[in-house]
Amino acid sequence: MPRYLVVQAPEDGVRLITLQRPEALNALNTELLAELAAELDSADRDPAIAAVVITGNRKAFAAGADIREMAERDLVGILNDPRVAHWQRIAAFSKPLIAAVNGFALGGGCELVMCADIVIAGEDARFGQPEINLGIIPGAGGTQRLLRAVGKPLAMQMVLTGEPISARHAQQAGLVSEVSQPELTVERAMQIGAAIARKAPLAVRLAKEALLKAADTDLATGLRFERHAFTLLAGTADRAEGIRAFQEKRPAHFQGQ
Ligand code: CAA
Repeated sequence: MPRYLVVQAPEDGVRLITLQRPEALNALNTELLAELAAELDSADRDPAIAAVVITGNRKAFAAGADIREMAERDLVGILNDPRVAHWQRIAAFSKPLIAAVNGFALGGGCELVMCADIVIAGEDARFGQPEINLGIIPGAGGTQRLLRAVGKPLAMQMVLTGEPISARHAQQAGLVSEVSQPELTVERAMQIGAAIARKAPLAVRLAKEALLKAADTDLATGLRFERHAFTLLAGTADRAEGIRAFQEKRPAHFQGQ
């Protein structure tokens, strides 16, 4: 049983993971990160799960790495930090990861948001990389993913001043896909997860992989990957079913085959 997560049984193919460390504004200590990585690994292996929603509470999605824990690590401790491997496992999750964000998403919390594929933010959410105030820089993708998400000027402003931005600003900038009333973020994220769960699983998997390729390859390589993935799907039963269902004017029933 995880100590810092509440994991709910999948509903409509969607698993809900709630970060549960309210006394520290869901600061991501190593144990919490390890639990999250393990949960995502297990969701990846479970055919009953099509997507995962991750959320926090109304005050905080997550206020960053655990500063108390960080204070105890010296250079060698950081060099051998097990957190790097946990972050890699989280980023490698192959199914859609949807973040439902209220309150603070700071430092590692904002970096966790950027590992998600779809982000629903409550109007009260705040996104920021305040590490500069601690004399450090983001260490879990915050310089690389933020620049790719929002472009250079805003990424520079956020990382160099440490000042957070609002949910609306984050949406305009491309960090957030939708803004909702704070009390509806989880419901909206679960709806989106359920909609994805009704699609062909192999197509969802390859679509995610192809979209992520766009962020870290040149256009020619990305287009080649897309073409290969598109061609691969021609061999699936779900493609035949999807096209047949359209022609017969009925909903498709996908099997993941
Ligand atoms: N680590 C550990 N504890 C934290 C924490 C963090 N990142 N953020 C908040 N807490 C704790 C506080 O210490 C406090 O605990 P106590 O009651 O025991 O003192 C509790 O959570 C509540 O926090 P506050 O009293 O500070 O709440 P507030 O509403 O006054 O302020 C806040 C909220 C502005 C988010 C403030 O807590 C804050 O600035 N937190 C730190 C944010 C931060 O710097 N994050 C970056 C961390 S470094 C990082 O993430 C590196 C990386 O890239 C991997």
